[in-house]
Amino acid sequence: MRLKPKKAMRVDILTLFPEMFESPLSHSILKRAQQAGIVEIALTNIRDFAKNDYRKVDDKPYGGGPGMVMMCQPAFDCFEYVEKLSDEKPKVILLTPQGQKFDQKKAVELSKEKRLILIAGRYEGFDERIRTGLDAEQISIGDYVLSGGELAAMVIVDAVVRLLPGALGDEDSAKDETFSEGLLEYPQYTRPEVFRDIKVPDILLSGDHAKIAQWRKDQALERTKKLRPDLLEN
Ligand code: 6GU
Repeated sequence: MRLKPKKAMRVDILTLFPEMFESPLSHSILKRAQQAGIVEIALTNIRDFAKNDYRKVDDKPYGGGPGMVMMCQPAFDCFEYVEKLSDEKPKVILLTPQGQKFDQKKAVELSKEKRLILIAGRYEGFDERIRTGLDAEQISIGDYVLSGGELAAMVIVDAVVRLLPGALGDEDSAKDETFSEGLLEYPQYTRPEVFRDIKVPDILLSGDHAKIAQWRKDQALERTKKLRPDLLEN
């Protein structure tokens, strides 16, 4: 029996800097996943929807203060255009340092969606009406300030796409990785057996698969206790 090929996940990215995405999307796993029809990623430039003569997408904040604010009109027009590019109902994500912190659990959750729309902002921020009007989930990738949401969008796309069935060459490799079980990864070795007087642990050469599995589990737990005890708290 032939299995029906699964429909590709669709990811739309709205950004003022589509060129920033070219390299990350055209290498390694993200490149292969697109070629294999596992994910379809489309970039749309918000600036293409600016209506004024200067293609202006940002303006001074009401009330004064430093920096510029992303205007409503280009953002909404761009969003409404992109939304119609597919019949699939999207999960909409606004990248902002004010969002919920991204983690592996969120990556797994997003990997189950059929369609994502990611909106990357620049400048000091979005007009509040973009935030409230789009019914978007706000996500941050950590407690530090980036110059824009583009790098954050790339981080999310990478973490999500590698979880899609078939995206990794070897189906098992996503399961064993750091964080997939809430633990750090166990130590790995490859040839040669001895490098600069340091030998590969004997157990890995023993051929005893049960013992190796137990050793790896113990190592992962030890390592997590030592380096990231916070991961064991819940
Ligand atoms: Cl999503 N955007 C910006 N500008 N800075 C961030 C971030 C996002 N996540 C962490 N820092």
